[in-house]
Amino acid sequence: MERRVPSTNSQPVAASLTRAAMFLVVTINGGAEHEETVRGLTADLSGLVRSAGFRDLDSRLNCVMAFGSDAWDRLFGAPRPKELHPFREIRGQHHAIATPGDVLFHIRSASIDLCFELASQIMARLDGAVAVADEVHGFKYFDNRDLLGFVDGTENPVDQEALDATVIGEEDAAFAGGSYVIVQKYLHDLKGWNAVPVEQQEGFVGRTKLSDIELDDATKPSFAHNALTVIEENGQELKIVRANMPFGEVGKGEYGTYFCGYTSSPRKIELMLENMFVGKPPGNYDRLLDFSRPVTGTLFFVPSATFLDDVGAAPPAAAESEAAADAPSPAGDGSLGIGSLSKEPG
Ligand code: HEM
Repeated sequence: MERRVPSTNSQPVAASLTRAAMFLVVTINGGAEHEETVRGLTADLSGLVRSAGFRDLDSRLNCVMAFGSDAWDRLFGAPRPKELHPFREIRGQHHAIATPGDVLFHIRSASIDLCFELASQIMARLDGAVAVADEVHGFKYFDNRDLLGFVDGTENPVDQEALDATVIGEEDAAFAGGSYVIVQKYLHDLKGWNAVPVEQQEGFVGRTKLSDIELDDATKPSFAHNALTVIEENGQELKIVRANMPFGEVGKGEYGTYFCGYTSSPRKIELMLENMFVGKPPGNYDRLLDFSRPVTGTLFFVPSATFLDDVGAAPPAAAESEAAADAPSPAGDGSLGIGSLSKEPG
């Protein structure tokens, strides 16, 4: 039986690809006051998204906010999501490195100005409390191609299947509606890649380049990207939702793919990474990695939208005693409380 999860209170993890996206990874500076600032923003984020998004509704601005393992302990303490841990680096034929990151903001819209506006508002709120570890501005490249020239995202699940692939259900009831996300920033050796004949590139990816059709089993090499990342367990394919975006800076000769994979369990992506970097069987690795090198790697937990809205600036223990004392302050967090105005599940 396939697992089915309700869509009611998750962040927009299963949203479809957009023309523009920004990925902001920040680390939280030491000190309780900085943690308080981050918690304050967390509760107000949905209000900020509504404010920026309403300026151009057609552009469908949305934002996912997610937390790294250490940051979770600092900000929220117990209980913690069952499968939240730091990104596990892999040393195989190639190296999947682990890099620092406390909070991820994944901002998407049909137009980059809205992404930029929201990112600016977020950073204004976090001024002095965080340091930016990485900032990537992604763009849609023709018909959703990566900068290697292949269409990227075709086999993503959609609608209910996308929710089933990404959203936590009863297996971790305290965090139902949540999700996990792994991000890796890949830089391509485009000169090297373009020197490879197209037919060989198609074998590396497992699909045709122009028409984006999957190679048949007789033609597809066992090391093709889609042979190594399609994994079956008990007759079920392990599904994730990828929100990859191209990015780059021509002056620097930088051409990249920002990998962003949402999943109900990090284990699914970890198995895919193992197949890609170590190989299946070991040594039969993903040839895309001869031309694409990850320079970051971080795992985050994506709490439900209701969890974000309900966060107070005070740490959980202090919040409880405040509630017991029946504190009269409306938001109790020094914020305007806009995040709590209208977010109804469903
Ligand atoms: C340089 C980085 C990467 C590039 C350029 C890339 C590119 C692609 C392309 C072109 C496809 C085929 C079209 C599609 O179905 O989307 C694909 C499929 C896929 N990729 Fe990647 N990918 C990258 C990294 C990753 C990573 C790190 C993972 C997971 C750990 C991953 C998982 C998948 C999966 C699950 C599919 C779908 C396979 C299928 O159902 O046929 N990819 N990728």
